[in-house]
Amino acid sequence: NDASGNLERVVLHGPKNSSAEIYLYGATVTAWKSGNKERLFVSKSAKLDGTKAVRGGIPLVFPQFGPGALPQHGFARTRVWKFLSSNIHGEGVSASFELSDNEETRASLWPHKFILIYKVDITADTMSTIMKFENTDEAEFEFTSLMHTYLRVPDVAEAKVHGLQGCVYADKVKGVRAVEEREEVTVVANEDRVYENVPGVVDVGYGGERVAVRRFNFKDIVLWNPWAEKAAEMSDFGDDEYSEMLCVEVGTVASTISLKPGQTILCGQLLTVEKISQ
Ligand code: BG6
Repeated sequence: NDASGNLERVVLHGPKNSSAEIYLYGATVTAWKSGNKERLFVSKSAKLDGTKAVRGGIPLVFPQFGPGALPQHGFARTRVWKFLSSNIHGEGVSASFELSDNEETRASLWPHKFILIYKVDITADTMSTIMKFENTDEAEFEFTSLMHTYLRVPDVAEAKVHGLQGCVYADKVKGVRAVEEREEVTVVANEDRVYENVPGVVDVGYGGERVAVRRFNFKDIVLWNPWAEKAAEMSDFGDDEYSEMLCVEVGTVASTISLKPGQTILCGQLLTVEKISQ
């Protein structure tokens, strides 16, 4: 923390005024600018004082997605990570962070030994967020994980999501499983869906541009918007803000990832801002 009590963060400045901000609290990316526009949504009511996971940006879900034995969405998003290093390369800049187990996490949260290395890398038009999961334990373990990206959109009802057609999804609002029939998906109500085993690139189009979401070793995509009523129930979400955001979250949550002792896996996403040619 600095003298004013603000939490520590790392700011990356890339080419063409691109930038990103990452809080050590949760290693949460809280801002990403590309093409002079902010691409991520953070609620004006978000807690940025370390008392609650950040409502916006890219909270990291590990080792449990959703409710269960651990706190909702696990503990990676509410621990303070270690800043490892930053790096300048040919096309941009990156920063790396680390979170590992300790006596407290093993005793009170999750009994396993692990090391997570998280790398955020920006160029003029892209941001990649890649996690290396390492099992440093003597036994195999399983987990679910997800990058809970809150995309900023001018009007959610106008945002068009492609790449989900034909995928099986679990609809957590309606409590049903079904197959997505639509080539172009729009969100116009409280939506909370896990699309399973999504095969290719998903993109979100708005205002003559799109953000393409490419995944590495993550199988599923969660689409989430709380809409008016649910937003009003959340203390850290402004009542009217639901129209400015759409969560497109990449992860493996419908199945688990298992790692044997000494084994590692790299999982993540590459977000690319592209012009839509008319
Ligand atoms: C989504 C879940 O990933 O996260 C939703 O699918 C959940 O069910 C949402 O409501 C927000 O979770 P939280 O813990 O940040 O309020």
